[in-house]
Amino acid sequence: MRIAFFSAKAYDRQSFEDVNRGFDSGSDPHELVFFEPRLTPTTAALAHGFGVVCAFINDDVSGPVLEQLAAGGTQLVALRSAGFNNIDLATAERLGIAIARVPAYSPHAVAEHTVGLMLTLNRKIHRAYNRVREGNFALDGLLGFDFHGKTIGIIGTGKIGVLTAKILHGFGCQLLAYDVHPSEDFLALGGRYVELPQLLGQSDVVSLHCPLLPQTKHLMNAEAIAQLKPGAMLVNTSRGALLDTAAVVMGLKSGKIGALALDVYEQEAALFFEDLSNEIIQDDLFERLLTFPNVLITGHQAFFTREALSNIAETTLGNVAAFERGERSGNEVGTC
Ligand code: NAI
Repeated sequence: MRIAFFSAKAYDRQSFEDVNRGFDSGSDPHELVFFEPRLTPTTAALAHGFGVVCAFINDDVSGPVLEQLAAGGTQLVALRSAGFNNIDLATAERLGIAIARVPAYSPHAVAEHTVGLMLTLNRKIHRAYNRVREGNFALDGLLGFDFHGKTIGIIGTGKIGVLTAKILHGFGCQLLAYDVHPSEDFLALGGRYVELPQLLGQSDVVSLHCPLLPQTKHLMNAEAIAQLKPGAMLVNTSRGALLDTAAVVMGLKSGKIGALALDVYEQEAALFFEDLSNEIIQDDLFERLLTFPNVLITGHQAFFTREALSNIAETTLGNVAAFERGERSGNEVGTC
């Protein structure tokens, strides 16, 4: 089948071509065509004649785009991501377009990056790195705390949340969690489930690992931030819109939020994955975040390991092959 990749970077091409070369789909080999632009109503025409569209997290898979894809003969949108909040599922269903995703490619990659952000932010390693390179060996402003004995609140104890909890358990942290579906694996670590206000009020570090759903949008709003333990660290490597960013800025200004680490941002589609170092960034809220010394941001790189890229390519091409054979891969989203 011909697959049109959107938002394709050199590393996507490499990982998919490597996996495709040795891939036994049980039918003709897949023909992979890589388009650099994001999928939008304007670029959707590029997919004309492609049975499969492979999209990433900031591609626009809204109703109008799906209408165009259906008119061009697309039967499957194979997401090379776990999250599917960018898809209009109702329209896809109405048009008979199947949606598949990669439910887990390396939860370890995301959990390890999450803890990396926590440690870097706490011990100010990013600031120390620059200081030492400039011959400044002063320690003022670099004071951190021991993670050992601190209480960590995990919101969402699925694959990534539990792995993050496991690493922090190894540091000797106390673990609290909030989830609509409790996990035995989390309980086995000695963690406790509590209601959200209790988690927010008792945790020294709050880490978000739930999906973006209508119920979780702006989960961390002004009201939730007011319930945080004063000076708590807030970490979001899940989806940007779990935070009300304007409320977070207010929380940072008042000191209620003591430190903030982000790998995701609500308006990231206009920024992340591109080199904008010569541009004037128009997003004032994002720029305000960058002015705080206690904010650390990475550009949606938590997933970005060799293992994850290879798993993404394997599962995505497997999803396409299953679709071609008329079988279910188990990775479908929705009912088509
Ligand atoms: P998962 O599906 O294994 O776990 C999600 C957990 O959230 C489940 O236990 C679920 O019960 C819970 N949940 C659902 N609704 C909730 C609510 N209203 N309140 C509290 N908990 C709720 O997902 P996984 O693989 O652990 O991924 C978590 C999130 O991480 C994804 O949804 C995605 O947004 C994000 N992610 C970020 C990446 C990055 O590179 N930064 C890469 C991969 C995923």
